[in-house]
Amino acid sequence: MTDTIKNKVALITGATGGIGKATAMTLARKGAQVVISGRRAESGNEVMEEIVAQGGDALFVLCDVNKEEEVQKLIETTVSQYGKLNILVNNAGISLETVPLAQADGNNFQQMLQTNVMGVFYGMKYGIQQMLQQDQGGAIVNLASIAGLHGMPYTGPYTATKHAVVGLTKTAALEYATNNIRVNAVAPGAIKTDIIAKSIDHGTFNEDMINRMHPMMRMGYPQEIANGIVWLCSDEASFTTGSILNIDGGFNAR
Ligand SMILES: NC(=O)c1ccc[n+]([C@@H]2O[C@H](COP(=O)([O-])OP(=O)(O)OC[C@H]3O[C@@H](n4cnc5c(N)ncnc54)[C@H](O)[C@@H]3O)[C@@H](O)[C@H]2O)c1
Repeated sequence: MTDTIKNKVALITGATGGIGKATAMTLARKGAQVVISGRRAESGNEVMEEIVAQGGDALFVLCDVNKEEEVQKLIETTVSQYGKLNILVNNAGISLETVPLAQADGNNFQQMLQTNVMGVFYGMKYGIQQMLQQDQGGAIVNLASIAGLHGMPYTGPYTATKHAVVGLTKTAALEYATNNIRVNAVAPGAIKTDIIAKSIDHGTFNEDMINRMHPMMRMGYPQEIANGIVWLCSDEASFTTGSILNIDGGFNAR
């Protein structure tokens, strides 16, 4: 089977850095037309320019996934620019504190629910509505986490949001299995991005503790997650839906 990423239209939320940027760059290298979206215009435009400089086709669209109307507009802009939406990666996510549950802040929990759960829901809702109108269907990949599959001390609210992402992913996979729309998630271990840097800054974890959580005794890199996301988006994964792909240095094997 040929790799059919080429000429697909791909939309990635929170693509101004980290895993989202690595995914956008990889999809563009494979010939997709890529819509990078995020809240930070300067970094978003830089990612767009980097892709264009490498001969790719990209557009940056400002979008805060906390706002339903902005996500709806983002899908509309993608379709008006490129005519379709083949691939949607619901990547934007936040982790605001690392404390035991009894000390967790309700406002932080609300914000994480809004971004990590409602943001993914808005993307899926409007993305699926568009994909249902297309003959070619589509592929959605959501960013879950090892914290979406296991209890994870000091990250209760974040863990709850990532379990919700797993539930949304599996349910949508079942609902649209016969509509040529595949819905999967990746469950990364700790990956070297700003999110992990911030949780190290909070002081609960240090780098050595995080490395030792993984049987491979190290963190992952954004590109290692992007590679899995891109496979799930490709037609090479044509019989894969409702899967949660562990990319975690062996964490899940324990
Ligand atoms: N890094 C890890 O260890 C790890 C592990 C498992 C899962 N994840 C998940 O991977 C995804 C990407 O995270 P990352 O590691 O690249 O971290 P990151 O902080 O580098 O990237 C997150 C991106 O989401 C964007 N974002 C946050 N809130 C947004 C909003 N309301 N609207 C639009 N964009 C928003 C940020 O600006 C940033 O670009 C997240 O969903 C995260 O929960 C990360």
